Amino acid sequence: MIDLFPLIRPVIHALDPETAHTLTIRFLAAGVSGRFGDTGDDPVLETEAFGLRFKNPVGLAAGFDKNAEAIKGALGIGFGFVEAGTVTPRPQPGNARPRLFRLSEDRAVINRFGFNNKGLDYFAARLEGLKGLSGPVGANVGANKDSEDRTADYVTGIERLYGLSDYFTVNISSPNTPGLRALQSRAALEDLIGRVLDARAAKMKGGMKRIPILVKIAPDLTATDIEDIAAVARATDIDGLIVSNTTITRPSALTSRYRDEMGGLSGAPLMDPSTRVLEAVYKATEGEVPLIGVGGIASGADAFAKIRAGASLVQLYSMLVYEGPGLVTRVKQELAALLKAHGFASVADAVGTGVKK
Ligand SMILES: Cc1cc2nc3c(=O)[nH]c(=O)nc-3n(C[C@H](O)[C@H](O)[C@H](O)COP(=O)(O)O)c2cc1C
Repeated sequence: MIDLFPLIRPVIHALDPETAHTLTIRFLAAGVSGRFGDTGDDPVLETEAFGLRFKNPVGLAAGFDKNAEAIKGALGIGFGFVEAGTVTPRPQPGNARPRLFRLSEDRAVINRFGFNNKGLDYFAARLEGLKGLSGPVGANVGANKDSEDRTADYVTGIERLYGLSDYFTVNISSPNTPGLRALQSRAALEDLIGRVLDARAAKMKGGMKRIPILVKIAPDLTATDIEDIAAVARATDIDGLIVSNTTITRPSALTSRYRDEMGGLSGAPLMDPSTRVLEAVYKATEGEVPLIGVGGIASGADAFAKIRAGASLVQLYSMLVYEGPGLVTRVKQELAALLKAHGFASVADAVGTGVKK
């Protein structure tokens, strides 16, 4: 299969980044992905996490498909699972444009979208229309910017979407909703998780099945924050952690003229810092809480590094901007080759093997 993306990339990158993104969603929603011809997955990539089966461990990270419009298309380019959202209870416009920047020289992106989305009713209707998908779908829920009770917004999201997605992500790590990340502090997190798990328990009492609930955290956490989050995750019935969201730090090596734009940085410069946090979380949870590793993945070697640092699954987003949809197939093929070259019979066999005790 010839990858045409390098040929069309200059055209796409001549567009304003948000316009390019909107067009990409339209293409995927229209089913164009089928023509990228993903060749199917090596059985070594098959895996299981929090009770779900995955043909491969490479997922589409949240924020790409905020309104659950392109799930089929994303699975069609080879992702093993797709996380849609972040969705908030009520629709909201997000921050003023421009709010998405390509840092081409740094192979990075800065965004300050601020949870622009069409709200839960629209999102639920998109999920209701889906059938016969090739992989699990996650619903990433958040809080409205002007909400008086942010915790209640997460509960509302889970109640409204319960049964429509295969897992939930509670996103408390976006840097673009002021105050949101404070929910990562111990007392706030305990309260939030308690209320979210109560909502699930009520659904289960009503006869619905148990849907895994994960919490997505920032890369900009202190060692104490990590210990606290790990302790709460272990003490509660939470099913996993996603490490990590975008960073508000700006590594000194950045050279692009957009490097000082406000917002969250993602892509290549996030690979090492997010993997270090992932490893710290794996250690702090003693490998007992399933982790999804995300941040800067641009190759099978990057995905392998996250798995060896403790990730049971991985996700990516930003490097699609530079590599195009062929990146997904490439990451999977390289990862399968690396697993075999290192003598691993499965992804699960490799999880955490790079972490020193
Ligand atoms: C434009 C953009 C929008 C994003 N929106 C969300 C979002 O709505 N919810 C969320 O949990 N993460 C969001 N993210 C973060 C990604 O899911 C991911 O955690 C982060 O970008 C690191 O992965 P990457 O380097 O592969 O992009 C967004 C990222 C980008 C680049």
